[in-house]
Amino acid sequence: MDMEDKLKAIVTEAETAIESVESSRELDDFRVHFLGKKGILKELMKGMGRLSVEERPLIGKLGNEATQRIESLISQRRDWIRGRELEDRLSSEALDITMPGEIFEKGHLHPLNLVLDEIKGIFIGMGYKIAEGPEVDTVYNNFDALNSPKDHPSRSLSDTFYITEDLLLRTQTSPVQVRTMMANDPPIKVISPGRCFRYDELDATHSPMFHQIEGLVVDEHITMADLKGTLDLFAKRLFGEATQTKFRPHYFPFTEPSAEVDVSCFKCGGEGCRFCSYSGWIEILGCGMVHPHVLEECGIDSEKYSGFAFGMGLDRITMLKHEIDDIRLFFENDIRFIKQF
Ligand code: DAH
Repeated sequence: MDMEDKLKAIVTEAETAIESVESSRELDDFRVHFLGKKGILKELMKGMGRLSVEERPLIGKLGNEATQRIESLISQRRDWIRGRELEDRLSSEALDITMPGEIFEKGHLHPLNLVLDEIKGIFIGMGYKIAEGPEVDTVYNNFDALNSPKDHPSRSLSDTFYITEDLLLRTQTSPVQVRTMMANDPPIKVISPGRCFRYDELDATHSPMFHQIEGLVVDEHITMADLKGTLDLFAKRLFGEATQTKFRPHYFPFTEPSAEVDVSCFKCGGEGCRFCSYSGWIEILGCGMVHPHVLEECGIDSEKYSGFAFGMGLDRITMLKHEIDDIRLFFENDIRFIKQF
């Protein structure tokens, strides 16, 4: 082979070899192999001295062209590698919105999700399904269908965020009870977690945005014993086997009878400590037997069916379980806070 053919062969070799260069490091090796001081092109061109004076200009020109061709292969490949490295980085750094519970680094859950998952697990284990409802709901679903008197103070503008006269930001998850009963025949057995809103001043224990978990069971022959057994089991699963529950009579418009439930303090076991304000008991939820008016309003025969309902504050339960002393920490998105869970 004369030098002209050898030059052509080197360019062809480079054109093939460049296709398998995948990284910046391989590209450096490629350059050294073809264009380096001891690269094959330089080594070949050292043979110029043996050429006749007539031959030299042509081979010199072909040598320069070969160098330029290989330089241009290298620069195209560099752009290609950079593009691919950027794509890789973007796809590995992208937030996976199909995993809303997981924050930035694997293994960290927002504490509200941590406790919500635990509570969902307990109720799913008892055969409950998860129901969902919108954060903007009707005044009818949030108040009227729940038997709330027209002059109930919670309806006032100073307690509730209204969107229009008929629409509001739900003040509780209880309207999901109405939606569920209107759309389904008994037996019904659901919990419904979600965000709620009330016109509250923000401080360490109050937030205008907070979370509740609603529960609803409707079937034939449901009694207060079912309600008590269910919530007692729930409390033992969530706070520990030694937990005791206490049902105190209370008033809610949508249940009759109604009660508030306290659990024995899981920190001190009932002795009295800072957590339970030295009472030995901690209030965790409201509950009761679904009012017949509510059943009828939602198209369920109250002669045939009965049910119970409950609603608990997720933020408060999470604060108790994880000894978080300021509700604002949940919503400030400080990654140092999230990373503790
Ligand atoms: N919705 C009530 C509240 O926000 C909580 C509640 C109490 C829900 C009793 C219920 C219930 O389902 O039966 O204060």
